[in-house]
Amino acid sequence: MYKQKMIEKVRELKNKKDILILAIESSCDETSIAVVKNGREVLSNVISSQIEIHKRFGGVVPEVASRNHTMAIVNVLDESLQVAGVTLKDIDAVAVTYGAGLIGALMVGVNFAKGLAYANNLPLIAVNHIKGHIAASYLAFKELKPPFICLVVSGGHTAILKVTDYTKHTLIGSTLDDAVGEAYDKVSRMLGLGYPGGPKIDKLAKEGEANIQFTSRDKLAKTFNSSYSGLKTAVINYVHTLKQKGAELPINDICASFQVAAIDGLIEKAIKVAKKHKMNKIVLAGGVAANSYLRARIDNRSKEEGLTVYYPPRVMCTDNAAMIGSAGYYNLINEEGMADLSLTPKPSLPL
Ligand code: KG4
Ligand code: ZN
Repeated sequence: MYKQKMIEKVRELKNKKDILILAIESSCDETSIAVVKNGREVLSNVISSQIEIHKRFGGVVPEVASRNHTMAIVNVLDESLQVAGVTLKDIDAVAVTYGAGLIGALMVGVNFAKGLAYANNLPLIAVNHIKGHIAASYLAFKELKPPFICLVVSGGHTAILKVTDYTKHTLIGSTLDDAVGEAYDKVSRMLGLGYPGGPKIDKLAKEGEANIQFTSRDKLAKTFNSSYSGLKTAVINYVHTLKQKGAELPINDICASFQVAAIDGLIEKAIKVAKKHKMNKIVLAGGVAANSYLRARIDNRSKEEGLTVYYPPRVMCTDNAAMIGSAGYYNLINEEGMADLSLTPKPSLPL
């Protein structure tokens, strides 16, 4: 009943000049709510990060994350509406991340979104978190349109996609084990640098030299898949050997060398995919897209190859609700992801 009414409402909305989406993201350790206009303009993007809370545990503790989402979410909503200069009466639809992510954390956002949508008689749009990461570039680059090749590099995913339309893509390659962000976080923890590892390794690598060869060859070189467990083990072995000898760890060089091993091959694969599919655009998506080395390296390589590369500003690379608002808008106008009160979180939602 609610869903049918909302489908009719969505059809009416498509004739409206401006569509305002209130978007909610709570899949991991950021509670975020944004107001996004027509999928392209960010009116507000309030992010309450729990990094300081999880730091002392060396990683995200799921139960702690859920509780903190619950405590933060109402204030984040108030602030988001205030920054956007709107009230709930101005909102046309509610979009929410329903997977992939931590189940308890997702549950907070999904239930909050259901309540808001139902109480305010608004359509509820379910959004895949990774589609949100891809959409971050629609907010940053107004001219960007599919098709393009997308390199997804986050804490939970490493994949190369062919994005054929705003809501459609095909998976071309992915990691066979750890995600690249996960490898950053694990190596960081092993080096005693703390959580989250990506930004720490990024910073220290700038002071180091990539003079350590961690892996001899990419066993997946002929495929578009990748693997990070071998690299992780190589770094662990290197560190253990030096520790056993009582030698000092060249932390900065380890960071720089790890980055080269983690990133270079991935970039080459994305370029190969772009050429194979005759596409001249590569979009970076996900938290690791904030990495300075990755950004600089892909800039250079794509220039050499005559390709255009897009990556969002750093704050839009890591988890935020604005990207969910953009993906939610494209779902809405394509009548995809229309949900009702039966919506439940999908912790392992595929790409
Ligand atoms: O996309 P994201 O915010 O969350 C997921 O959807 O997984 O990605 C988080 C990941 C973490 O592994 C974090 O260490 C990594 O992105 N990350 C970075 C940087 N900033 C965040 N990795 C490398 N360099 C960075 N500057
Ligand atoms: Zn994410």
